[in-house]
Amino acid sequence: LGPRRAAEIRALIRDVPDYPHPPVVFRDITPLLADGPALADVVEAFARLHLPDAAGRVLDGEIDVVAGMEARGFLLGAPLATRLGVGFLPLRKAGKLPPPVERVDYDLEYGSAAIELRTGTLRPGARVLLIDDVLATGGTARAAADLVERSGGHVMALAFLMELSGLGGRDRLAGRTVESLLRVG
Ligand code: PRP
Ligand code: ADE
Repeated sequence: LGPRRAAEIRALIRDVPDYPHPPVVFRDITPLLADGPALADVVEAFARLHLPDAAGRVLDGEIDVVAGMEARGFLLGAPLATRLGVGFLPLRKAGKLPPPVERVDYDLEYGSAAIELRTGTLRPGARVLLIDDVLATGGTARAAADLVERSGGHVMALAFLMELSGLGGRDRLAGRTVESLLRVG
């Protein structure tokens, strides 16, 4: 995204103070999802991200599967998978998938949760791109990366629409490739 388009996309994310409780400022991507050209530009921007350790290669062609965190990671991850011509792997909140599952518990900016992946869904060594809308504390992303790796996948990168840079998410993902299309303090 160029700076001008990034500002337009940012304006389509609504800031909701004190939701779900103070002092959280909730970043609501609903208006962005409702805007066709904006959604398409976000998906294209993800597809054009570069792998920093791979001499200028874009993600396109270097990924076997896109994994997304329930629920908002599904909304961005599934169209990205289609754009890249690969499959999509849903990392689900606990209790939605029939057994056997792998499970990782984690903390959120505003609570705690667990995510699950059906045992045996990932091909061993599959190159995985993890996608979500918001990187806040990084608890969800870290749990998702752990889950993928425990299940035999290789996390190539984690990509976010919006990074809330004051909450330490990037530090919790130290040693991993982390990309974000928008950053807010
Ligand atoms: C939100 C968001 C990320 C996560 C980020 O999801 O979509 O997945 O929180 O927070 P963290 O960096 O502090 O872990 P949420 O669990 O609220 O679920 P939803 O997508 O179902 O709304
Ligand atoms: N997930 C964690 N923190 C969030 C926030 N402030 N807005 C939207 N999603 C979030």
